[in-house]
Amino acid sequence: MRERKNADAPLAERCGRMASEYDRGKDAQGWRGPEVVFGLLYEFVGPGESVLDIGIGTGLGSALFHKAGLRVHGMDMSPEMLKVCEKKRMTEALKLHDLTTEPYPYAEASLDHAVCVGVLNHFEDLGPVFRETSRILRDSGVFGFIVADMRPDETPSFHVEHADSRVTMFRHGRSQIFDLMDRNAFEPLRELEFSVAGHDGRSAPFRLRAYAARRRMRGGQAGGTGTGEAR
Ligand SMILES: C[S@@+](CC[C@H](N)C(=O)[O-])C[C@H]1O[C@@H](n2cnc3c(N)ncnc32)[C@H](O)[C@@H]1O
Repeated sequence: MRERKNADAPLAERCGRMASEYDRGKDAQGWRGPEVVFGLLYEFVGPGESVLDIGIGTGLGSALFHKAGLRVHGMDMSPEMLKVCEKKRMTEALKLHDLTTEPYPYAEASLDHAVCVGVLNHFEDLGPVFRETSRILRDSGVFGFIVADMRPDETPSFHVEHADSRVTMFRHGRSQIFDLMDRNAFEPLRELEFSVAGHDGRSAPFRLRAYAARRRMRGGQAGGTGTGEAR
């Protein structure tokens, strides 16, 4: 089992404390990440297919997929967030797992699609999420995710102020994301830039970029330019 340095115990505690208030807070903030990711992916998914929500929290990022008839599987490191999610009865199965630890608790090529909404901005190293998502998705499955976008003049890390704490977040630029997709057997499909307000108006709004990517066929039959798989 591979453990990474950015396992974030304080973040898990924070998520635990705010779990029951999480959905209301996101609504007040005007968070539209789930709608953006669903909008990028909906033409590639169908009822009865499965979707893995990576860092599912209370389930906001996959609720629209559930409404569209997909079977939602979720994984998160916060028991409190998972408890709130479970009460919504929108998931097939939930697992407690730290995303910085490989392997994730799913078999190779066992699920159709994946989403990761509002999570990757907490990670400096996106390698584990991309490697494991690529391993778990079936051929031609789609992966929708959001990162805090980084322009050349911006620093990789920044801080967001909350009422009770200051959270360090990480930006990732387009070329970095395209490189990660290519090395992990994903073909880019679509992307969209949008922004989100700071929490409770305490921080400036920040720019996000949502991506949709398709898992290449194993064995190299798929169309696309990249060749290498990361494992
Ligand atoms: C901002 S919330 C987003 C939740 C949900 N995806 C949504 O769209 O609302 C971030 C989530 O990522 C989870 N998370 C952060 N770091 C994690 C890690 N290392 N392993 C597993 N989950 C993690 C947190 O517990 C929390 O539920």
